[in-house]
Amino acid sequence: MKIFTVIGARPQFIKAATVSRAIENDESINETIVHTGQHFDDNMSRVFFDELNIPRPLHNLDIHSLNHGAMTGRMLEQLEELILIEKPDVVLVYGDTNSTLAGALAASKLHIPVAHVEAGLRSFNMYMPEEVNRIITDRISTFLFCPTTEAIENLRKEGFDYNTCHVVNSGDVMYDAALYYADKAKAPATGVPENFILATLHRAENTDDPQRLTSIFEAFNTISKEIPVVLPLHPRTRKIMEKNGLKNNSDQLILTEPQGYLQMISLLKNCKMVMTDSGGLQKEAYFFRKPCITLRNETEWVELVNSGVNKLGGFDKSVIVDAFRSFRNSDTFFPENLYGNGDASQKIIQFLKEFY
Ligand code: UD1
Repeated sequence: MKIFTVIGARPQFIKAATVSRAIENDESINETIVHTGQHFDDNMSRVFFDELNIPRPLHNLDIHSLNHGAMTGRMLEQLEELILIEKPDVVLVYGDTNSTLAGALAASKLHIPVAHVEAGLRSFNMYMPEEVNRIITDRISTFLFCPTTEAIENLRKEGFDYNTCHVVNSGDVMYDAALYYADKAKAPATGVPENFILATLHRAENTDDPQRLTSIFEAFNTISKEIPVVLPLHPRTRKIMEKNGLKNNSDQLILTEPQGYLQMISLLKNCKMVMTDSGGLQKEAYFFRKPCITLRNETEWVELVNSGVNKLGGFDKSVIVDAFRSFRNSDTFFPENLYGNGDASQKIIQFLKEFY
C-alpha cells in the first residue's frame, strides 16, 4: 500500500508522528510525506521533526502566510502535481487546517481515496475556518477515522450512513502520542515556577477581534495575580499583540516562545490547570488529568465539558475568572478512556490494510 500523507501545521506533526511510526513498523506500507509549509518557524515546525522522529517530508511546498483562499489554492495546485507523480493508493490527511482541505480536495479530484484522521468533529460554528475545512474534508473522504463516539454520531446525523464511505471509531491518535511521549518530556529552557497555569491562545476568532483579545488578556492578568500563568505565544498572537499595543501588566504572566511537544508535555504534567482555545490542548489537559478552561463559546470535544473536566470560558473576563475559581475551589473527577485505548494509530493502519 502506498500512502501519501499531507501535513503542514503544528498539531498535524504530532498526530502524524504516531501514525507514521505505525507505518514504519510495517514493511508492506510505503509512505510519502509532504509538508505544505503552512507552519514554517523552527519552533513551529522543525523542532517537531527533530524531537518526534517524524520521517523527513519528501517535499516542502513552503506555502504560508497567505489569505485562506490563496493558501489553500496554491497547496491544491502543487499537491495535485505531486499526487499525479506519486500515484498513491490513499491520501492521508489530519484534522481541520487549510493543509487538510487542500490535500483532501487534490486527492478526491483525482479519484484517489482520502483517509481523514480526526473525522466527524463539529463546533457548529461556520465562522471558524476549521469548521468549513472539516465538513468539506469529511464529505469527500472515503475513510473517516473518528476519535470519539460523539464524532460518529455527528456524521450519522449528517446522513453519512447513506454515503459510500467507511466511518470508523478509531480513538484519538493524540492519546497515542501522549502515552508514548509522556516519559520523554523535557522542561522548557526558560524554566517555570513551581505552581502555574498553562495557557495558549491562537484562534483567529480570538486574536483577530481586539475586544476579545483584550478581555482574555485581562482575565490572564487577573488570574496571574493569584497563580502564575505561563503563556507560550503563537506567532499570530504575538504579531497581533504588538500591532494592538497589548501589554502584559503582571510579572506573573510569563510569555514564552512557542514550545516543542516534549516541552508542552512537561508543562502539562507540572501545571495546575490549563486555559486554551486550542482543540488539541483541551484533550491533552484531560490526558494529564488537569482541569481546562476553553477560551471559546463552544468546543468539538463536548465529552470533556459534559464530564465536568472542561468549562467553556468564552472570551468574557468575568466568566473566565469565575471558571478558574470554581476549578480551584473543588476537586475535579476525570473519567477514563474518553478517547480510546491508545491504539488509534494501529487501528487506522490495520483498517486501511484490509483494503489494499
Ligand atoms: C492553523 C490552523 C488551526 C490550527 C493551528 C495550529 C487553519 C485555518 N488553521 O492556524 O486550525 O489550530 O494552525 O497552530 O489552517 N505564522 C508564523 N510562523 C509559523 C506559523 C504561522 O509566523 O510558523 C504566522 C503566519 O504567518 C500567519 C499566522 O501565524 O500570520 C497564522 O498562521 P496560519 O498558518 O494562517 O494559521 P494558524 O493560526 O497557525
